[in-house]
Amino acid sequence: MKALFINGSPRKNKNTALLLEQAMGGAREAGAEVEMINLYDRGLNYKGCMSCFACKVKGGRKGVCSFKDDLQAILEKAVEADVLVCGSPVYCSYPSANLRAFMERLIFPAVNYNDYSHPVVNKVIHSATIYTMNCPNEQVYKQIGYDVLLEQSARQLGMFGPTEVLLSMDTYQFNDYSRYDAGRFDPVAKQQHHDEQFPKDLAAARALGRRLVEQAAQ
Ligand SMILES: Cc1cc2nc3c(=O)[nH]c(=O)nc-3n(C[C@H](O)[C@H](O)[C@H](O)COP(=O)(O)O)c2cc1C
Repeated sequence: MKALFINGSPRKNKNTALLLEQAMGGAREAGAEVEMINLYDRGLNYKGCMSCFACKVKGGRKGVCSFKDDLQAILEKAVEADVLVCGSPVYCSYPSANLRAFMERLIFPAVNYNDYSHPVVNKVIHSATIYTMNCPNEQVYKQIGYDVLLEQSARQLGMFGPTEVLLSMDTYQFNDYSRYDAGRFDPVAKQQHHDEQFPKDLAAARALGRRLVEQAAQ
C-alpha cells in the first residue's frame, strides 16, 4: 500500500506542510508506505501541461504524462499510489500555481477523449485535497465562492476514485505579525485561533490519512 503526499506550498514547515505531515503520520500508522513531495523544491523544474498530446496519440501510452521533465517521475508515483493527498495554500483564490501545474499534468492524461463513460485509468486511488487559507470562516468561504473555485479543482481527483476536501482556515501566516504591514489581521485573535483551532485541524488531517489508507485496504 503506497500513499503519496504532495506539498503545494513553498514553505516546508508551515500550515500546509504540517497538515500533510499529520496526514502522512496517520497513513503510516494505518500501514502505508509513505512519501512526501515538495513541489517548490529548488531542484524541481517543471511546467503545467505543454499540450503535446502524447497522452492522446493513437497507440500511445495513456493515463500518465510522458513529457520529460522533473515532474514525470512524480506523476508515475502518483498514478501508482493507492492513496494521494495534495495540499495547497490558497493563492489569489486558487490552489498554488505549482499544484495547479501538477494537477494539469495528472488529470489531462487521465481524461478519456474517446468515451466519457470509460476511465483511462482503471486503478482506484483514494484521494484528498487539503487547503489552508487566511479566509476566516465557512460563511466568508462561501461568500467569496471558494466552495466552487477551490473544490471544483479538488474534485477532479475524483476521476481516480473517492475524494475528499479538508479545510484549514484563518491560518497563522507570519511568525511575528508586528514585522509586517498587515493591519487588517488581529495578531491576538490569530494566535488564539491558531492555539485553539489548528490542533483540531492537525488531528483531522491525521484521521484523514489513516481513513484513506483503511478505505484503500478494503
Ligand atoms: C501569494 C499569496 C496569495 C494568497 N491569497 C489568498 C487568498 O486569496 N485567500 C486566502 O484566504 N488566503 C490567501 N493567502 C494566505 C495563504 O493561503 C495562507 O496564509 C496559507 O495558510 C499559507 O500556507 P502555508 O503556511 O502552508 O504557506 C495568500 C498568501 C499568499 C502568499
